[in-house]
Amino acid sequence: MAWYLAVLIMLTFAGLPTAFKHNSTSSTNTFVCYYMATSFFPATQVPADLCTHIIYSYGIVSPNGIQPISSADLQNYKTLVQLKKNNPNLKVLLSLQPGFESVVSAGSDVMKKFAKLAVSFLSNYGFDGIDLDWEFPKSKDKENFKLFIQILYAETRPVKMLMSAALPNSISALGGYDVPTFASAMDFMTAMTYDFHLFIKNIDNTTGYNSPLFTPKGEPKLFSMSAVLSYYLNVGFPSNKLLMGISTYGRSWTLTDAAKHDLHAPAKDKGLPGPYRHLRGVYVYPDVCVALQQGAKSVIDDTNGAAYLYNDTTWVAYDEKATILKKLAWMKSQSLGGVGVWAMHLDDNTGVCKLGSFPLLNAIKSNL
Ligand SMILES: *[C@@H]1O[C@H](CO)[C@@H](O)[C@H](O)[C@H]1NC(C)=O
Ligand SMILES: *[C@@H]1O[C@H](CO)[C@@H](O)[C@H](O)[C@H]1NC(C)=O
Ligand SMILES: *[C@@H]1O[C@H](CO)[C@@H](O)[C@H](O)[C@H]1NC(C)=O
Repeated sequence: MAWYLAVLIMLTFAGLPTAFKHNSTSSTNTFVCYYMATSFFPATQVPADLCTHIIYSYGIVSPNGIQPISSADLQNYKTLVQLKKNNPNLKVLLSLQPGFESVVSAGSDVMKKFAKLAVSFLSNYGFDGIDLDWEFPKSKDKENFKLFIQILYAETRPVKMLMSAALPNSISALGGYDVPTFASAMDFMTAMTYDFHLFIKNIDNTTGYNSPLFTPKGEPKLFSMSAVLSYYLNVGFPSNKLLMGISTYGRSWTLTDAAKHDLHAPAKDKGLPGPYRHLRGVYVYPDVCVALQQGAKSVIDDTNGAAYLYNDTTWVAYDEKATILKKLAWMKSQSLGGVGVWAMHLDDNTGVCKLGSFPLLNAIKSNL
């Protein structure tokens, strides 16, 4: 901040009564939790007081309005919206994907019809807003997508419905986004700053961090949270509406040689299923805890704001409280609007980590 701006701000606040001064210990940062209903974590177990916004994933975009993915979704909508009784400040949104092409490329009449149907659908269920998660519009879609957002804005704003979006982790996917339209129409935007590396045969075949704060040596410059977010600030996304995307899952690899287990070690495949949720190529946070409890070795990389564990030929990039705190500090240093987490259901909801339930989400909540 330039010195004269700092002085101006000090003068501006100097005359105000104490109660109106900025309280640096009480945060107004947005804390978005994306949530998908799963058999191991049904909507009835979602806590009301952890996040400021819960975004249910997903609803389908169609020329006949929003379609639920399954009939069970309708009950889940009601269950989540009911949480507002326990926490009146909670906002519950519905995230949309897939199906954008079917409406956005079909002309303004179809878009207007969709906007009206969508708002009445969301109002019926008591949602506070809509989240656009098109992965991803192409450059040829840019003008139509801009118009679609303007049409949705005109329909949602009068009924005080929130509108948000998820942004890509790669600037090469930014061609379909009209930045000024996003900047003015969106209440907040989560940059999906994770998935920088996943095993891709012959293309990305060495170990790498899923979601490092800073770009490790020897990697493309924009393969980190801070690099992508700084780029977004530079091209005009407003800092107070831009959220840092944090992941509660990591990615796993099968090493070519168990003795070579550093960052950027050669890998021959995705990792075998993890010890708790048994997903191939992915360790959600409970998998990380169980592997560490069973003796896997871990390395915290303080320079890059990331962590990994390894055992035999398994190698896993993950996040934990220490790396998340480092990320939150950077997020605050840039005056971003808060964080968006993928996802609530991938944190430790059962307490197997022995750190209470939702250890990562609680770490965020108390350090936001
Ligand atoms: C400021 O934060 C402190 C500590 O959390 C709290 O006790 C106090 O009530 C807050 N004051 C205001 C004006 O919000
Ligand atoms: C990774 O892929 C590159 C490009 O195809 C190849 O030259 C290299 O040998 C591969 N490395 C491993 C460890 O498989
Ligand atoms: C480590 O790897 C060995 C051999 O694959 C396996 O039997 C063991 O369960 C693994 N331990 C952990 C902590 O993952």
